Amino acid sequence: MSKELMLQNIEKAQHEIDSKKNIVKNGKMRQRYHFMAQTGWLNDPNGLIYFRGKYHIFYQYNPYEGFWGSIHWGHAISDDMMHWEYLPLALAPSETYDDHPRGGCFSGSAAQHDGKLFLMYTGAANEGGGVGQTQCIAYSEDGIHFEKYEGNPVLTAPEGVPVNQFRDSKVWKHEDTYYMVCGASRDHKAQALLYRSDDMFHWTFFNVLAESRGEWGHMWECPDFYPMGDKYVLMFSPMGVGEHTSVYLVGDFDYQTGRFSHYISGEVDWGFDYYAPQSFLAPDGRRIIIGWANEWEWMPLWKDWGPTYKEGWCGFFNIPREVRMMENGTLQFLPVAETEILRQDPICQDMFVVTEAEAELKAGDGVAFELKMKIDLEETDADMLELILRSGEGKKTVCLFDFKNAQMSVDRNASDGWSRGVSRSTMFLKGKKELDIHILSDQSSLEIFANEYQDNHANNIFAGNAQNRILIRTYGGRAVIREYESYGMKDCFRGND
Ligand code: FRU
Repeated sequence: MSKELMLQNIEKAQHEIDSKKNIVKNGKMRQRYHFMAQTGWLNDPNGLIYFRGKYHIFYQYNPYEGFWGSIHWGHAISDDMMHWEYLPLALAPSETYDDHPRGGCFSGSAAQHDGKLFLMYTGAANEGGGVGQTQCIAYSEDGIHFEKYEGNPVLTAPEGVPVNQFRDSKVWKHEDTYYMVCGASRDHKAQALLYRSDDMFHWTFFNVLAESRGEWGHMWECPDFYPMGDKYVLMFSPMGVGEHTSVYLVGDFDYQTGRFSHYISGEVDWGFDYYAPQSFLAPDGRRIIIGWANEWEWMPLWKDWGPTYKEGWCGFFNIPREVRMMENGTLQFLPVAETEILRQDPICQDMFVVTEAEAELKAGDGVAFELKMKIDLEETDADMLELILRSGEGKKTVCLFDFKNAQMSVDRNASDGWSRGVSRSTMFLKGKKELDIHILSDQSSLEIFANEYQDNHANNIFAGNAQNRILIRTYGGRAVIREYESYGMKDCFRGND
């Protein structure tokens, strides 16, 4: 019976998508190469996995409107992480443990077990009068059609953890055992709880992997735990720590005790729009993360989710990023090499000098483009370098590299008449010979990577096509630019590539 209800709810959602997708697809604010759902609302990436020769992404999804609610799991596959094929929805709310209208099938992850594709997700329940959160299992023989486990939920919140603060399980396999880390809150402090299982169905508590003493907030959404060389990384989106959206901790881990001891912390991204990243392993061993390009209304710098709901949709993912570790143990987050397959119309220049007189740069059509360059710090004596992006019709987004004050900032107060705020990061350049800058611009977003991929700013802006000029200038001296490359970016969604 309940198996049928989930299929009915998927079919109903699928009808809704089919009836709207051809209109939504023509929305002026739709991205050209960042992953979006066909219609409706999207938030966290879930269940990222390379399975039987394809990249799979699932996503928190409301097919019924461009706002959050009634959460399903959308599903898409790809050969290259750039071009995605939509598959039928994987999960729909259907059971008392996952069908709350302000809940549904919340975030989780995927693992291959017993030749099948397993999903572990958070059920947000309709029972008991509250939004109780439990961990649930679904599995699939073909990697497309899923069935919920009849023994769900497989885990409920442990004593001392409020029932609505136990979510976002991330599963992985080590030797012959499955491990799972889940976000929780105890005594108003965040915890990452570690569980283990031999068969994906029966789970037992192992240890508190890590916890906040208050400095890292009261809840960690979407915790993820993975090795990097001989170190381990815990990555999460903390609630209750000001402007942090997605952070990482680096340290040591012992499978004997289930304890993580960390001594480095850092920011995955400093922009307004990078939340709930999840990682997975590519077949060639790269650790890749994908993050949702937005943030929640409880965050201090939040304004709204943007104007795209007017076109019947909301939400996209930032470009997949490869995680690398520097010698000092901090992390870098680089756009995956696959973005290069989208390049067209290259422009390269070995060297040029920028002065206080504004000059124009060319990159694709000035809307969807990639731009890379290096500032030669030994030859540069300017106090600041300013890059003005998506400029036109009196609007612009200003990216400032302030050498004197060691700060990078991206100002979107004049971006589009809608977005607001200045994202800022400390740009530590002592002893460096050059500053690398890498920009991915799409119809409605700017991802700016700088300083060895540690000063990353993902910001959504909803600029029109006439905002297509790129300008550059300095303040207080000159700057020498080397290895300038720019490209237009192919459209992955409108089939003109
Ligand atoms: C993070 C999050 C998760 C939750 C999901 C609900 O963005 O709040 O904690 O599972 O979104 O859609």
